[in-house]
Amino acid sequence: MPAKAAAEDIPKGPCRFGRKELILRFWQAIPSTIPAVNRVVARVLRVARAMECAKGHLDKVEIALREALNNAIVHGSRGDPKKKVAVCCLCAEDKGMLLVVENFGPAFDPTKIPDPTKAENVFSLHGRGIFLMRQMMDEVAYRKGGRKVIMKKAARRQLA
Ligand SMILES: Nc1ncnc2c1ncn2[C@@H]1O[C@H](COP(=O)(O)OP(=O)(O)OP(=O)(O)O)[C@@H](O)[C@H]1O
Ligand SMILES: [Mg+2]
Repeated sequence: MPAKAAAEDIPKGPCRFGRKELILRFWQAIPSTIPAVNRVVARVLRVARAMECAKGHLDKVEIALREALNNAIVHGSRGDPKKKVAVCCLCAEDKGMLLVVENFGPAFDPTKIPDPTKAENVFSLHGRGIFLMRQMMDEVAYRKGGRKVIMKKAARRQLA
């Protein structure tokens, strides 16, 4: 079972329970609404800030997470607020973070979506979300017929 925790629960200072690194994970099911998206994004960013697991990359993480959540509620749940979207966040202190967004709508093939950088698509008003997610994160992988997206970001390495 995933542990329930909030940023406020993260101990500050030297209290590390004797472990070499601190890992925090939370899992949450949200309704398919924009306010719910905003709340879960804020929660993820709070945790990432407290854990310093996406140091220097918080803006990128926010953009990618918002695009993934927007796709889940718009294309996955088709705007039905009663449909749930699952979000999983795992932060490894100073190392990086892993985000998973899953919806329960129709499948799609992410390898078949048009390339927004091609000449015929550059004036399109849509079709940049997945491209952006790939630009912002180190790894983006789709599972379950496109219903589940897994995104990874490593923390920026400290320069000596
Ligand atoms: N979770 C999803 N479930 C079903 N289809 C999806 C999902 N995510 C993306 N898609 C499909 O992939 C296409 C491309 O998604 P992408 O996010 O790149 O662009 P978009 O959502 O159409 O526009 P925007 O630039 O506003 O994000 C979508 O139009 C949709 O057909
Ligand atoms: Mg999109």
